[in-house]
Amino acid sequence: MKDLSLHILDIAENSINAGATEIRIKTVEDTRKNVLQLEVSDNGKGMDEETLKNVRDPFFTTKACKRTGLGIPLLAQSAKECNGALTIKTGKGEGTTINVYFQYDHIDRKPLGDIGTTLIVLIASKPDIDFIYEHRRNDDSYLLNTADIKKELGDVPINSPEVIRIIKDDISAWIIDTNNMIQ
Ligand SMILES: Nc1ncnc2c1ncn2[C@@H]1O[C@H](COP(=O)(O)OP(=O)(O)OP(=O)(O)O)[C@@H](O)[C@H]1O
Ligand SMILES: [Mg+2]
Repeated sequence: MKDLSLHILDIAENSINAGATEIRIKTVEDTRKNVLQLEVSDNGKGMDEETLKNVRDPFFTTKACKRTGLGIPLLAQSAKECNGALTIKTGKGEGTTINVYFQYDHIDRKPLGDIGTTLIVLIASKPDIDFIYEHRRNDDSYLLNTADIKKELGDVPINSPEVIRIIKDDISAWIIDTNNMIQ
C-alpha cells in the first residue's frame, strides 16, 4: 500500500461490508507530539469475540471466495514499522473503531496521500452512507459531514457530478491552505 489514504479506503470498505450507515474518519497530525493518528469508526454489525481474536491474521477473512484478509494486518504492520500500533474497539452489535498511530517523522511513515480522492470514492459509491471526515493538524481542523450536506441539497443527489466537484475542491483547498501555513 503506497499511502495511508489507501489504507483508509480499505478499512472503510470493511465498515461498508459490516452494514454501517455512518462512517467517521479522523486523521490527526500532531507535529508537536510527533504523532500521526488515523481512526475509522462505524455503526456496523461489529465483531464477535472469535473474529476479533483472528482479525490480525492475514489468512483470516469472512469474505466469501477469498482466502486472505489483508486490510487490518497490513495497516497494523505499517504502524508497527513506525513505532506505532493499531487498536480495535468492537463488539457484536456495537460497531467498530479502528485506531492507529505512527511516529510522525519516522523515515518509513507513508504519506497521508490523496485523502480527497479516497473520500470522493466513498461518497460517490455509497451515497446512502453518512461520512464524517475530521482532519486536525495541530490547532487547525477541518470537518466534512455528508449528512449536513444532504440536508442542504434537498432532492439533489450527493453523488451528482457538480456536488462531487464542489466537495473535492473544498477538501483540496483546505489541505493546500494548511500545508502552506505549516511551511
Ligand atoms: N468494521 C468492521 N466491522 C465488522 N467486521 C469487521 C470490520 N473490519 C473487519 N472486520 C472483520 O475482519 C475480517 C478481516 O478484515 P480485513 O480487512 O483484515 O480483511 P478482509 O476485509 O476480510 O479482506 P481484504 O481487506 O483483504 O479485502 C473481515 O473479513 C471481517 O469479518
Ligand atoms: Mg478489508
